[in-house]
Amino acid sequence: MDIDHIALATKKLDSSVPFYRDLLGLEYHETEEVPTQKVRAAILKAGETKVEILEPTAPDSPVARFIEKRGEGLHHIAFCVDDLDETLGRLKAAGARLIDEEPRPGVGGTRIAFVHPAAATGVLVELVEAPK
Ligand code: CO
Repeated sequence: MDIDHIALATKKLDSSVPFYRDLLGLEYHETEEVPTQKVRAAILKAGETKVEILEPTAPDSPVARFIEKRGEGLHHIAFCVDDLDETLGRLKAAGARLIDEEPRPGVGGTRIAFVHPAAATGVLVELVEAPK
């Protein structure tokens, strides 16, 4: 199973991007605004894995609340799954706590769902199914 992306929460992209882009040398892709999540996301690539650095654009952004509670740092890990419905069904059957009971649309025609950190050793997990 591949990792689609790793997402970091930061207060300021300008204070986070230079380390990953200029010092570590990750390939910078783009920065995009995601109004539904109230974030700006800088997308970098480590091989096939994207690193998304998320900066809240409003105080009530989920990422702003995350930083308030837990500070800057790892926000979530996104795994690629072949069949999101099947995966969600399996997790539900096992009683794993989910944030999304049903898939929702992600970027680029993907379908995504979030699993609650309580089910995943304290890490927010995103499941991503590529467009068919
Ligand atoms: Co994500």
